[in-house]
Amino acid sequence: MEFQAKELFAKHDVPGAPGIVATTPAEARAAAEKLGVCVVKAQVKAGGRGKAGGVKLAKTPDEAEEHATAILGMEIKGLTVHRVLIAPAASILEEYYFSFLLDRANRQYLCIASIEGGVEIEEVAKTNPDAVKQIAIDPGTGVDEAKAREIVAEAGFPEVLVEQAVTLVLNLWKVFVEEDATLVEVNPLARLEGDVLEALDGKVSLDENAEFRHEDHAQFEDKDAADPLEAKAKAKGLNYVKLDGAVGVIGNGAGLVMSTLDVVAYAGEAHGGVKPANFLDIGGGANAQVMADGLDVILHDAQVKSVFVNVFGGITACDEVANGIKGALEILGAEATKPLVVRLDGNNVEEGRRILDELNHPLITLVDTMDGAADKAAELANA
Ligand SMILES: Nc1ncnc2c1ncn2[C@@H]1O[C@H](COP(=O)(O)OP(=O)(O)OP(=O)(O)O)[C@@H](O)[C@H]1O
Ligand SMILES: [Mg+2]
Repeated sequence: MEFQAKELFAKHDVPGAPGIVATTPAEARAAAEKLGVCVVKAQVKAGGRGKAGGVKLAKTPDEAEEHATAILGMEIKGLTVHRVLIAPAASILEEYYFSFLLDRANRQYLCIASIEGGVEIEEVAKTNPDAVKQIAIDPGTGVDEAKAREIVAEAGFPEVLVEQAVTLVLNLWKVFVEEDATLVEVNPLARLEGDVLEALDGKVSLDENAEFRHEDHAQFEDKDAADPLEAKAKAKGLNYVKLDGAVGVIGNGAGLVMSTLDVVAYAGEAHGGVKPANFLDIGGGANAQVMADGLDVILHDAQVKSVFVNVFGGITACDEVANGIKGALEILGAEATKPLVVRLDGNNVEEGRRILDELNHPLITLVDTMDGAADKAAELANA
């Protein structure tokens, strides 16, 4: 969120007023009494807040309170606004766009800069693509002073701002690298009266893979917006992503689970268009507790009508997985209410199937092939 991005900016000496966060209209009024003329800005992880009516100028504390009343609780792109940022109003001469991001396709970093910034950078990119500069950054060398000067020259910042811009680019690069970000975006980067350059807005995406070296990043997580099932799965250390369909999916290995989603979507076409309900990779150790945790999350998804357990036994053999499923159903007891279609293959498959055959559980259907199992799961979800 903007106020969090601005905290990271301040930490790395990127100029811009941090403002004051308010969660009630009364707090907004108090903040405006301190700051004077200000803007009231919705804090949600979505773009286009201004257009949605989530950014409003307030000349008096009364107005700030009024705007906060209107903006708090508002929905922007499906996200409810729980906080507003009260920022001192700036006198803007020009608005620019600046970002660093990870360019996966080209295996490098990319700087995107435009002196025609402001709200509609996507529109500028369409109508006047030459005004939006893309500067490749070698990940080996990164952005040193020479590179920062190249970026500033290419972007075409006005002469009076060049030195400020070079420092700002170097500091934004520090945010990008030292915070392990995949995106650092400033829109607008504003030229204020008196030719001062300031970040009036900010957006930072942090790389979760680097969480282990940034204990302080946990505070940035938006618990209010997190899907409750995803939060539960995360607490249990599961790789789970909620999707929209009716067939719950559990598999071992990200590649197998991705293929399973495809196969289920394909099979679903013959069964009323049912689709996968989630991605869930239980990884290597498919023991009873992990299987129970996975099923526990999926079975509590009200949209789920059937579950497809697709496991290829490798280091964890199929008999262990079969015992995992058996144990999971014992742990869940009466909470397990939806049909499970199980496909086991690979290491020790015969023994695995024997265990499930012997269990003869009313909810379990064993199918030998992945396509056959996907078809059965889709059929049951559509029944
Ligand atoms: N502190 C400020 N003082 C004066 N004007 C501001 C200030 N902050 C923002 N604005 C004006 O409001 C516009 C929109 O603000 P901002 O960029 O923060 O939100 P947004 O671009 O609508 O949202 P998003 O970045 O989520 O798309 C800016 O382009 C700028 O003109
Ligand atoms: Mg913006």
